[in-house]
Amino acid sequence: MAKRVKNNVAIIGCGPGSMSHMTLGALKRIQEADVVVGSRRLLNLFSEVKAEKFILGKNYRTLLTKIERLRARKHVVILVSGDPGFFSYARLVISKLGKEHCDVIPGISSVQLAFASVGLHWCDAYFTSLHGRKSELENLVDVIKAHDKVAVLTDVSMSPKVVCTALKKGGVKGKKIYLCENLSLKNERIREYDISSFSKADSENMNLMIFLSEGHN
Ligand SMILES: C[S@@+](CC[C@H](N)C(=O)[O-])C[C@H]1O[C@@H](n2cnc3c(N)ncnc32)[C@H](O)[C@@H]1O
Repeated sequence: MAKRVKNNVAIIGCGPGSMSHMTLGALKRIQEADVVVGSRRLLNLFSEVKAEKFILGKNYRTLLTKIERLRARKHVVILVSGDPGFFSYARLVISKLGKEHCDVIPGISSVQLAFASVGLHWCDAYFTSLHGRKSELENLVDVIKAHDKVAVLTDVSMSPKVVCTALKKGGVKGKKIYLCENLSLKNERIREYDISSFSKADSENMNLMIFLSEGHN
């Protein structure tokens, strides 16, 4: 394994969004930071932390260059939602800085909390993400037909409604759908549908969908 060096950047999994789902190890690294990088939503969780803050958005590539420079003199932490190992900015950071310069601090993933909330195990689940990955929608019909249990991350443009319209068109039938919205937050909602009743579902914000074949648990 590559030798760890001082002044590693910490990539911190912040869990699904509420402070109660963060680990003590993650909180300690954030409190010790000189520089904190993260989405506005995650930075807002740490308004009392006296570090320099950078909002992560469409600037994610230019910020990487800045992080690389700052790393030499400062303790830099990067906040990501859920777990860093699951569809996150961590992949890009590690490929730019090298894994020997990164400490990855795990967090509770949105999928872990979703499966826990609906009382299902997830060791036999298939996972995919449409978050910023429009092209994946094409494969989704085949993926959902081929697997009994599928978790799908969505986003504002690849919304649950867009997903269900594509599945209906693709002839997907016999699936229960759990729509898990704003997990761990005050406005959390977890609702159950099938493909035909889904058109009634309104959904905003952060969503994750679980598709389950009838008779499967
Ligand atoms: C860029 S991915 C990051 C996933 C993250 N690394 C994880 O482990 O959960 C962002 C997507 O995760 C899902 N997500 C994250 N937090 C969520 C929450 N609190 N409730 C529902 N879905 C959430 C949504 O599908 C969102 O668009």
